[in-house]
Amino acid sequence: MTRIGIVAELGREARVAATPATVGKLLGLGYDVVVEKGAGESASFRDEDYAAAGALVVGADEAWGSEVVLRINPPTDDEIGRLADGATLIGSLSPALRPDLVEALAGRPITALALDAVPRISRAQSMDVLSSMANIAGYRAVIEAAHEFGRFFTGQVTAAGKVPAKVLVAGAGVAGLAAIGAASSLGAIVRATDPRPEVADQVKSIGGTYLKVEVAEEMKSSDGYAKATSEAYNARAAEMYTEQAADVDIIITTALIPGRPAPKLLTAEDVAGMKSGSVIVDMAAGQGGNVEGSVAGERIVTDNGVVILGYTDLPARLPAQASQLYGTNMLNLLKLLTPDKDGQLRIDFDDVVQRSVTVVRDGAKTWPPPPVQVSAAPAAKTQTEVAETPAPKKKEGLSPAGKAGLFAAGIAALFLVNAVAPAPLPQHFTVLMLTVVVGFYVIGKVHHALHTPLMSVTNAISGIIVVGALLQVTSDNLVMQVLAAVAVLLASINIFGGFAVTRRMLAMFSRGDGARK
Ligand code: NAI
Repeated sequence: MTRIGIVAELGREARVAATPATVGKLLGLGYDVVVEKGAGESASFRDEDYAAAGALVVGADEAWGSEVVLRINPPTDDEIGRLADGATLIGSLSPALRPDLVEALAGRPITALALDAVPRISRAQSMDVLSSMANIAGYRAVIEAAHEFGRFFTGQVTAAGKVPAKVLVAGAGVAGLAAIGAASSLGAIVRATDPRPEVADQVKSIGGTYLKVEVAEEMKSSDGYAKATSEAYNARAAEMYTEQAADVDIIITTALIPGRPAPKLLTAEDVAGMKSGSVIVDMAAGQGGNVEGSVAGERIVTDNGVVILGYTDLPARLPAQASQLYGTNMLNLLKLLTPDKDGQLRIDFDDVVQRSVTVVRDGAKTWPPPPVQVSAAPAAKTQTEVAETPAPKKKEGLSPAGKAGLFAAGIAALFLVNAVAPAPLPQHFTVLMLTVVVGFYVIGKVHHALHTPLMSVTNAISGIIVVGALLQVTSDNLVMQVLAAVAVLLASINIFGGFAVTRRMLAMFSRGDGARK
């Protein structure tokens, strides 16, 4: 049986690649699991917890000698040397940023999988460590800011009334949205900006106000990620940051552009214009920083008393939570790699997720993988974007000619039925055709966010179908009986299925125990 080794991280890293809970599930996939002594200690997972979950607690050499080694941070050269021939290493390897590491891994007869290279497609969301860690980092950035800030977020009652703290979040991606949610739930007034206009609704829905940088052209977000912003955008944004810096108490910056250094958003003058005691958390400090004067991994206090935090280990500052999410992402990848739950790891290069994460296979370099179309694209495109972008080859519905053909066929069918069918069929058929046309246009225009209430309405329609079908089921005609029974069955599936789905969706928003009472 294949043995998985959970090895300890180096230095001050407090997270661990598997928790006792995920170890139990790895055993369920048919693997043997060994855990290096003390590997989970900093994340509050004791050796005896791993042992109770069914793992064997072993020394470092034995853990590194396993057939599959799970890790968070990239291995050092020494650690690569400790891997057994034929072993598979899985961890956050940042292959795009570490060509040296890829070469070192390819120098051994091993397989290396980068969990942080999972493509950002819906199917792979359960393995997406970048998102799960960004979510934690955004929350923790607010906690760090609150710790440094000498006041309540929710505001103190003074003679002038209650004045909550004002927070600006720059970049409303995964980390930014988590920061907005955390700051607004602490009672602060939260503003957020992002060049991708589609995030405005998301910002609003978690209690923030979206600050739009008004420029003639809008960011075209063909894949859901930001591109470098234009000169005009940067000039207008710079004015906005200067205004906001003078007004807000806390600034959290999260702005990143894939494949480029982080954009500079706040100048030293903007920081100098902030009130003493204000706090900036530059979450992009590790990628060059969004704020002039921030230093990766450091806490800086400026001459005018502004604290700039450039911490790069924000997820590791919530080690138990981060390990739990990381461990779950890791488990989900292993589920994918163990389709038969037989403790045998198999890599299928026809699967886009497995191909994307494979950096080295049996000693051969397989990085970079072919590009993957990500699913983060916004739902709708503006007229100008459509005009400027070459026509996509994707299915976009019927062409105008196809629509006209369908319309003509419908009219012809209507006339044909009216001409030959006995009464009252033509009447009913006309009503059916009109219903189809009206329904198509009405439902087609309903916003995706309203599909759940729409489902309730279709439940009501299914209810009417059930009543109608029950009236017909007693008919003497066998065909009628069968059709009515089928109608009752299908409409019932719609009703009960609709209720089940609605119930599941509502459960996602409930806090569980007692909160719904
Ligand atoms: P990221 O970490 O690359 O960037 C963070 C944010 O910075 C982004 O929102 C970006 O628009 C913003 N930004 C870039 N330039 C800026 C500037 N000059 N000023 C202010 N903000 C700027 O992005 P992240 O958070 O990893 O993901 C971005 C989006 O991708 C998410 O909002 C989500 O819609 C989508 N996504 C989809 C996933 C999936 O389908 N599996 C997984 C993760 C994200």
